[in-house]
Amino acid sequence: MLIKNATLITAAETFQADLLIRGEKIAAIGQNLPPTPEDLILDATGKFLLPGGVDPHCHFDLPMFGTVSSDDHYTGHKAAAFGGTTTVIDFVVQEPQGLRHSVELWLQKSAKAAIDYSFHMNLTHFDDSVAAELPALVEMGITTLKVFTAYNGRLRLSDGEIFHALKIAKDLGLLVMAHCENGDVIEPLIAEALAAGHTQPEWHAQTRPAWGAIETTLRLAAMAAQANAPVYIVHMNAGGEADMLRYARQRGAPVMGETCPQYLFFNVEHLKRADGAKWICSPPMRSEADNARLWQALQTGEIQTIGTDHCPFFFDGTQPIIYEGQPIAIPGKELGAGNFTKIPNGLPGVQDRLPILWTYGVRAGKISANQFVALTSTNPAKIFGLYPRKGTLAPGADADIVIWDPQKQVTHGVAHSQQRTDYNLYEGWELTGYPEKVFLRGNLIVDNEQWLGQAGDGQFLKRGKGEVL
Ligand code: URP
Ligand code: ZN
Ligand code: ZN
Repeated sequence: MLIKNATLITAAETFQADLLIRGEKIAAIGQNLPPTPEDLILDATGKFLLPGGVDPHCHFDLPMFGTVSSDDHYTGHKAAAFGGTTTVIDFVVQEPQGLRHSVELWLQKSAKAAIDYSFHMNLTHFDDSVAAELPALVEMGITTLKVFTAYNGRLRLSDGEIFHALKIAKDLGLLVMAHCENGDVIEPLIAEALAAGHTQPEWHAQTRPAWGAIETTLRLAAMAAQANAPVYIVHMNAGGEADMLRYARQRGAPVMGETCPQYLFFNVEHLKRADGAKWICSPPMRSEADNARLWQALQTGEIQTIGTDHCPFFFDGTQPIIYEGQPIAIPGKELGAGNFTKIPNGLPGVQDRLPILWTYGVRAGKISANQFVALTSTNPAKIFGLYPRKGTLAPGADADIVIWDPQKQVTHGVAHSQQRTDYNLYEGWELTGYPEKVFLRGNLIVDNEQWLGQAGDGQFLKRGKGEVL
């Protein structure tokens, strides 16, 4: 296929060119490329061509809170594709039987993948036998570990364990990702809140203060510096975390950061609404000042990526929705009616990320179109060892291409969403600019409102060592 007359947008530049796809790859980019008689020609005058989005932070089919995140490795991938994302990375739950066993279970779950995908490994228990399995993880193409400084007694590692893991990670070329909150402060605050009868959703945020995220971000950055091993701070939510990241990066610490759209657009006031449970995720949303500081960190390059932390639940999982013609209901936020600690933590966003950021980031003048591509595709591909196969428009790269219609008007919301849940955080938001066509390795998988992809078409991506940006 020869795509003619488009405006290509990469992380570095914006330019007019033709783009030739041969099989699964981009074969050439240039002016007036000559078609062969077999080439299909697509005139993309007035459209933008972007590399497919790379979402480095998703949770598909994740059991938690006595239920499961409501998008699996097919429905979540399909939703991602409609929003212009063609690569996703989700997190393997660490099982007691070992890392290899844990990965094999996750590979079975993801046999229905519809776009390309990889895994991070959650490291929620660490001892010598786990350490001995880390080289096998690298052989399997999983070069990232996630550690937690909260969820005491469940997911959390001690600082000593994290430092030990960092030292080994450095030797193996692994990147450690850190969920930064302080579990030792959160647990007593939750107990106090419940004892005082504070059961509403806003108390989820009140019991997980920004201070914990801020000091933990600095603590992990300091560990990165002292182990001389890179750390990537996931889902940055507090402006103070951006301050700590800047402090550490200015002093040469190998630390990088990710934020998510929800931390740019929402704040604790949303949790006070009658339907506040929709906004519950961990870490929680903060204040408008935090939103502003995070935008600034994106503008200045202090934060390197925007992921989604897509971990959807139904708002009312007793009422079925129709998904691909079938009714489906999955227990969700209603599990925590009357007790905020029982509300499943997480929210939808894998489809929303690019369209929302385009209208309310690029069109609003907060970030350039090139920064948009860098933050949502190129930088995640580089950091997570997928570049230049993914994350750019260049000869030899996978032909993961979004034809973006900058004029398309959409009233966003659940009616327009493929995310398998009954609500959308951006309900009623007016968008200008939306993916028109999405190609995965040269195959057209989304054509306007039409789904042409298939379960099983997504490929597992074995990743190598990534870059420290
Ligand atoms: O609330 C959230 N974010 N759930 C997903 C798990 C995590 O910590 O990223
Ligand atoms: Zn997390
Ligand atoms: Zn997450």
